[in-house]
Amino acid sequence: MQPWIAPSILSADFARLGAEVEEVLEAGADLVHFDVMDNHYVPNLTIGPMVCEALRKHGIAAPIDVHLMVRPVDRIVPDFAAAGATFITFHPEASEHVDRTIALIREHGCRPGLVFNPATPLDHLDYTLDALDMVLIMSVNPGFGGQQFIPTTLRKLADARARIAACGREVRLEVDGGIKTDNVAAAAAAGADTFVAGSAIFGSGDYAETIREMRRQIAGAGGKGRGAATSIGDRRSGTRRIR
Ligand code: DX5
Ligand code: ZN
Repeated sequence: MQPWIAPSILSADFARLGAEVEEVLEAGADLVHFDVMDNHYVPNLTIGPMVCEALRKHGIAAPIDVHLMVRPVDRIVPDFAAAGATFITFHPEASEHVDRTIALIREHGCRPGLVFNPATPLDHLDYTLDALDMVLIMSVNPGFGGQQFIPTTLRKLADARARIAACGREVRLEVDGGIKTDNVAAAAAAGADTFVAGSAIFGSGDYAETIREMRRQIAGAGGKGRGAATSIGDRRSGTRRIR
């Protein structure tokens, strides 16, 4: 699988969100990471389906990767599907019935993923992986951008990669939190193929150069997650929609 770079818009300038998303896609990002926080499951409050819909209406055609940090989960799934979400990922701790929530996401035409906090074991994958399109490993505790990468995540990525390889399906392995140009190679080597980066990209002066450097680092890592080496030449424009 080609590595994907997923800028987290949590670190974008919200006063000019549409332009920020356009710029980061133009700079080579693959999908838009959309962090939804409810001041309940996590101690912060961000954006909901109306903002997702506004991005679609603005003309954003790239896949939108909705990361739900909300409880309850099910109530908001249909709204995000209608708003144009591509992936919808959620934390198993936040859902009363994990299997039902996965099915709900799929029924609404979106691609489901499960998210694992730093201290949450991967056991939930035992009976869900066959139904998932993404596994998201948190490398910080959820709630805020700009936190420090937690190194034990690397072992968990490797464990998740082994499970995905054993299941034989195409499942994205995403890492989220504290990803920078100087540690993205370690995450790739541990098996990640989808890299969320908020402050590292939006906090940099040159989005395109930061994304290019991340791709260079990932290509050099020889990670288990990479299906083929990434070359800058086969970068796509960010306008493809995968649904
Ligand atoms: C944290 C969010 C992350 C966050 C990443 O709860 O899920 O997506 O925005 O931000 P950085 O890359 O700055 O750690
Ligand atoms: Zn996130």
